[in-house]
Amino acid sequence: MKQLKKDIILANVPKNRINLDIFEEIDSTNEFLKKNIQSNEFNLVASEKQTNGKGRRGKKWHSPKKGNIYMSISTKNTFKSGPLSLITGIICTKVLSNISQTEEIGLKWPNDLVFNNKKIGGILVEKEINANEEKTIIGIGINFNINGEENWWGDISELKIEDQRNLIIAKITSEIIKIYDKDHFDWVNQWKNLCIHLNKEVKIYNHNSTTEDGVFIGIEDDGSALIKTESGMKSFKSSEISIKGVY
Ligand code: BTN
Repeated sequence: MKQLKKDIILANVPKNRINLDIFEEIDSTNEFLKKNIQSNEFNLVASEKQTNGKGRRGKKWHSPKKGNIYMSISTKNTFKSGPLSLITGIICTKVLSNISQTEEIGLKWPNDLVFNNKKIGGILVEKEINANEEKTIIGIGINFNINGEENWWGDISELKIEDQRNLIIAKITSEIIKIYDKDHFDWVNQWKNLCIHLNKEVKIYNHNSTTEDGVFIGIEDDGSALIKTESGMKSFKSSEISIKGVY
């Protein structure tokens, strides 16, 4: 396993705009950036291991030292191009596909990275508001090697790109900054092309534990899912439901 290396990452990002910290071990890269001051336009942190990695919906993110990516980026800049977490999913998928020269990595709504029908990565976007200033934290976890303790967890060990972790972190960061610099990004079609369950049957899990079947028809400009159900076409925000039946 090749270590995380500051010089390789910095050589592949706009380094005058970034402050980079690398850790052997940390509680959570998202928590670190929430607590620490914004020392450059973008702060980037990556760690070999997390002792308290966090997932969406209050879940834990299993974060052993096994050559995986645990990274977060924070900024006070405003993102104008669309739903940040979904666009980050597109960026991560494309960077991994480019480096591995495969098209086999896809997305499950809203922003799970999927390979061989298993979840191999996730994104947790958080906001921190302090003295009227808002900071956005984008956390990204990508599994290169993991013991599948849950049968829906997977990794991309077979793509053999683990040794390029530093370059992958740098490219994801650079692409995120590029889109921060834009006013518009045509993301809907890109997201649909990467979606693994477009026009397929899914199960909708509501927060009140009811379930409903439907066909995943598409995505709206704000990132909501459009699902055709027995009672008609419905639009759901990612905070309202999760979808199952995909892996
Ligand atoms: C999900 O539940 O799908 C989101 C997982 C996000 C995990 C990453 S790992 C780096 C960053 N730090 C955290 O504590 N979580 C995110």
